[in-house]
Parts: sequence; structure tokens; C-alpha cells
Amino acid sequence: MRSRHVFLLAALSTLLVLSPAVMPTATEAQASLKPFDLIAWNGGEFIYGVDYYPEAEGPVDKDAEMMQAAGINFVRMAEFAWAKMEPTEGHYDFVWLDRALKVLNAHGVKAVLGTPSASPPAWLMAKYPDIAAMDENGVRYRYGSRRNYCLNNPHFLAAVQGIVTAMAEHYKNHPGVLGWQIDNELGGPDCYDSLCQAAFQKWCRTKYGSLDAVNQAWGTIFWGHTYSAWSQIPLPWNTLYGVHNPSLELDYHRYFSDASRNFLVMQTDILRHMAPGKAITHNEMGMFDNIDYSHLNTAIDFVAWDNYPMIDFSGHASYANYEGAGLAHDLMRGSKSQQNFMVMEEEAGLPGWNTFWGHQAPPEMYRLWAYQAIAHGADGVCYFRWRTSRYGTEQYWQGVLDQDSYANARYAVVKQTGTEVKRLKDVLEGTHPVSQAALLVSPDTRWAFNVQTLVKGFDYNGQLHRYYDSLRRQGVNVDVVFPQGDLSAYKVVVAPSLFVLTPDLVRKLTNFVAGGGTLVLTYRSGVKDEHNVFTDQTLPGPLAQLAGIAIHDYDPLVDATSQQEIVMNGQHYPAKVWSDILTPGTAETLGTYGKLYYAGSAALTRNASGKGSVYYVGTEPDSPEFYDRLLDRILHSVGIALGPQPPDGVEVETREGSGRKVLFLLNYTAAKQSVDVGQAYRDALSGAPASGAVELPEFGVRVLVNQ
Ligand code: GLA
Repeated sequence: MRSRHVFLLAALSTLLVLSPAVMPTATEAQASLKPFDLIAWNGGEFIYGVDYYPEAEGPVDKDAEMMQAAGINFVRMAEFAWAKMEPTEGHYDFVWLDRALKVLNAHGVKAVLGTPSASPPAWLMAKYPDIAAMDENGVRYRYGSRRNYCLNNPHFLAAVQGIVTAMAEHYKNHPGVLGWQIDNELGGPDCYDSLCQAAFQKWCRTKYGSLDAVNQAWGTIFWGHTYSAWSQIPLPWNTLYGVHNPSLELDYHRYFSDASRNFLVMQTDILRHMAPGKAITHNEMGMFDNIDYSHLNTAIDFVAWDNYPMIDFSGHASYANYEGAGLAHDLMRGSKSQQNFMVMEEEAGLPGWNTFWGHQAPPEMYRLWAYQAIAHGADGVCYFRWRTSRYGTEQYWQGVLDQDSYANARYAVVKQTGTEVKRLKDVLEGTHPVSQAALLVSPDTRWAFNVQTLVKGFDYNGQLHRYYDSLRRQGVNVDVVFPQGDLSAYKVVVAPSLFVLTPDLVRKLTNFVAGGGTLVLTYRSGVKDEHNVFTDQTLPGPLAQLAGIAIHDYDPLVDATSQQEIVMNGQHYPAKVWSDILTPGTAETLGTYGKLYYAGSAALTRNASGKGSVYYVGTEPDSPEFYDRLLDRILHSVGIALGPQPPDGVEVETREGSGRKVLFLLNYTAAKQSVDVGQAYRDALSGAPASGAVELPEFGVRVLVNQ
């Protein structure tokens, strides 16, 4: 394997000069440093669009008329049109795209063009079969599907550079092209070929400098896995029992995330140098965790993401569960320092592939989800897709129109929303969600839990939701922050199951508490160091002093049903997944365990530290009431004002700025609802005054402004 690799390196050294594995990212052309104003970018219009595929559908003039009538002023195109734009190697054809752009632009519709690297053409993969990623058994994927490439294949990288350069050259001065989307939903697959192994080894070498440092950091002495040459370092591929060193696996996750970012940067560098006036984004996937979006997004101008609430992988998708998309919106906003973002693919109909069906939603939901995105900081909403495809894998994935182009109920809803967002532009511009409470999401922790599953029933995102959902039920806006983020704006930071800690993060949390912040920690915190090595300090490791507790015993509640309970203020709440049995030092006990041999031991503590305090929740209470009571106490103690209290199935969220406060009331139920908003507002759509109990129709929305 090694000699083949060396040969390839020598033969393709010219191409490799440009490969992501060796590209100096330190010199990468900068993403805009000041917050990107999406509305100004779109010529002062709220971005309202559809994903459009003129390479396969039309007629474009008829479509453009219908789009314009629905208030659509934006399309994303071309992200899967590589074969059409470069039908044979090095011969580019943009005539069809120019024609479509001309017609769309004439109807007031501008475009973002996707670089098409997610779907390499058949001729390219036939010529260079090694472009296909290799699975962990050493077999390359066959041609078909998409996102099937090896991130380190020099032929692929050269071909991507070719098409991206041609697009940049052709469209650099086109006034109807606002910017670019890089690739499509980066994040996989993992490729286990020799180029990727060499790239991982190189990444390790850059990070650690010496093999001694790698062996030390990963604790390779365990089972005698000590490496004496860089080339011995494996990828986390198939082994007997499927196990690997967890430290190697965490670094592999970091490497893969970096490699994906380098691939993106290879493209952004070309585009920024050749077409400097245009903005760059990438369509991301909300809670998806194979990439550290907070790092990736330092290379793009603004965040965009793809929101499909009715895909039902969990079996729990329901349009009443607004917190699912809500947290994903907030995480996406937080992945670029709370800057407003856009939705590049907003669900426009039933999700369905060859292999699965999602759930159908009432047409009004497509308006409601657009408003939810806006409430959480979106300055643009683009529906996937204009028309359901007649061809290929996604014939059951509904667009706004179906294949017959009939102006259906979804089109009517999209048209209504289009008229409204045009009117709301002035109210929205310059506003964004403002929060005093934050949820800390740690990519290292998420990866470490993926590497070593805690117990059946543990779900890191589920932990986030326990606290997030409660804050949202109490009408409190929530920011998501990443470990490198700034905590100074927050009164409360909830950091669920903070498993992996770096010294920097420990310092940051310590300073936050010393300065008066309230930190909420939960079970399995402080267990691992930055190398995914178990701490040798008493748990919760470097957080023990801050939390004022010691943990000398724990109990994995392995069968995932409610087996434990937590007793707080005389009330018993079911608990599951895990029990950290707490020994308070300086902390006071607020709750105890109710069952098993450790009944009566501390389960919930609070430690006064510096000017702030630290709560530690040792288990996973299984009733929303527990979280509501605990957070209600915390919010009151730090003086965070609760928003209007929404009934079940109703969401409230605010945006503020430019002297305005905009209150969104969103009803996800099929019943009329009302929310007491107290103070005097104006309905931003009708202009009518609104105060006290404000009525919401079934699946209805009210946007209120305080001026
Ligand atoms: C993703 C992709 C789109 C499309 C939709 C629907 O979000 O980005 O190209 O495939 O899913 O499946």
C-alpha cells in the first residue's frame, strides 16, 4: 500500500501541490469579518427562494412567471449539474445556465450557484475510478448516488478546481449571480484508501510533531499498540470486535472535519480570488455532527442550512415538536457567532426517497416553518424544491409544485408567505435573536460519545433538548455556543454532559462563574481530557472544585427505562440513563436519589463559587416538570425575565435591534390558541394594535412589533 502511495505522490506531484492535504489554510482568503447582512446582499429584499434545476425542468419562462407571482426573488441552482456544465473533460458549457439566468433575472429572481463537486460526472469517475471513496473493508463504492468521492484524490481535486475555476471565470461579473454555495452537505463518506490514511498520518504529524507525543497522547501502551513509524498509524477501519483506541478515533473525527474544511477552502480560495464581489456559503445540516460547523464556518460568509422537520428517522417527527427545528436553527446561528443565517432548503412538501417516506404536513406548515426560521434569525428562506422531480431517487420528495405544475395548496401558501415577507422586511432588518441563556455544544464531546457509546438510551442531542425545550417552554430565547465562543453575554450557560475538556474550556468556564455566571453541568462531565483519555482526578475531574462535589461512584442504568428517581423539594421525578452519585464538598444538596443502594445520596447540587454558581445534575430526570422547576428557579435567581408563557404547541421567540423588539407567536396545533403578550404591540402585517391575550388561528402566526 505504501509503495503504491509513494509512486502516486511522485507521479502526481504537480496536482498535489494544490491538494487540501498540503494547502496552507493559514493564507486562505478571508471570509467577511463583519456580520454579513443578507438582506442588503439581496439588494434590500428579504431572500425568498426556491431550489431550481433548469438542467432538468422547465419551461423556465413559465416557471419564472409563477415564481415572480409568488414573491420569489432567489434561486439556488447548478449544485448537481457538473455533467451538464462540463460534458467532456475540460469543455465547459454554460449556455443553458446563462439562458435560465437571463429569464429568471428578468423576473426579479437572482441566484446562488452551487459548485457541483458533490456529484462528479460519470466520465470523470470512469477515467479515474479511484475517485470513488473506499469503504472500511477496502472496497470502493461503485458509480451512482452522490457524495461518493475521496477527499484526497488528486484527480478529483484537479477536476473540482477546473470546474470551479470555469464557473468563477464565467460568472465573476454576472449581476444576477449573488454568490456561491460550496458542494452540497459536506460530511461524508469516510474513505479508507491509502491517500486518506496518508492524509490522516500527516495531520497527526502536524498536530503532534513526534511519534513519542502521539504515543503518549493516545496511551498506545494499552494492548501494546505503540507506533514506531508514521506509516503504521491506521484509520479507524474494521478491526476484530470493531474496536479502536478512542483517542485515535477522536483525532480521526477532528482530521475528517478539517479535511472537509480544507476541501471547502480549496474552492473558496479560487472563488474569492477570481470573483471577489460575491459571497460564499454552504448548505449545512443542523444537528448533524460529523463536522465541527463552528470551525468550518470561519471560512464562509454566512451560514445556510437545510431544514426538513418531517423526515422521520427518530420515529418522533411531529409538526407539534417545534423544538426540534428550533434547536437546529439556534445551533446553526451559534456556529457563526450568532450571525443571522438563511435556510437554503426549507421543506416544501412530503419528504420521500427511494427507500423511505416522511410525514405529510398541512400546507399551512410551510408558512409556519418559514416564520420559525425567521424568528430564530433567518434573513432568507429558500424552499426545496420548486417542482418535484420526475426523475431519479427523489420522485417522492415534494417540491412546491408537483410534476404537473398545478398551482396547488402549497403554492398558494408559499405565495401568501412571499407577499408577507416582502412587507416584513423593514421590521426585520437589523434585528436578531438576543439571549441571556446559552447551551454549550462541544464537538469533541459529541464525537467522543459517538466513539464510546455511554449506555443504551443516552443521546447527547436528547440531553441538549431536555434543557433547551424547558427554556423554550418558559418563553426564553436560547443561544447555542461552541467551546471557543464568548460567554460574556450570558447569565446562564447550560453545558450538558461535558465529557471532553480542554484546559482552555476549563479556564473559560471558571472565569464565567467567577464573574457571576451560573453554570449548569450534568452527569458524565469532566471525564476525559482533550485526547479522550480518562482523567486521573476525582470526577468530575477539572470541574470538581468549581462544582464543589466529588464523584466516587456511578451507576449506568443500562436498560433505558425509568429505574431511578430524583427527589427535589419533596417531589419525586423519574430518572434514567445514568446516575453520578455526588459527594458534596462546598456544594449544597438540592435533590437526592430515591432508589437503589444509594438512595438518599446527593443527585443535584449547587455550589456558590466566585460571584456565580454551579449546578450539577447527576442523572437524567425523565419528566419535563423537573426541568421546568429547576430552570424556573435558576432563571429567577439570575434575573432573566421570562417571555410570554406559550400554551403547549405554541412557540414564542423574539428578535431585537435597531430600537425594535419583534415578537413571533407560532401555533403548531390544529386548534385556535391565545398568548398573553401583556404590553402594547402592533401587528406587523395588519398594522392593528395587539396587547393582552392575542389570538392565533390554527397553524397560525402573529408577528408583533413594539413600535
Ligand atoms: C438534501 C439535499 C438535497 C435533496 C434533499 C432532499 O438536503 O441537499 O439535494 O436531496 O436533501 O432529499
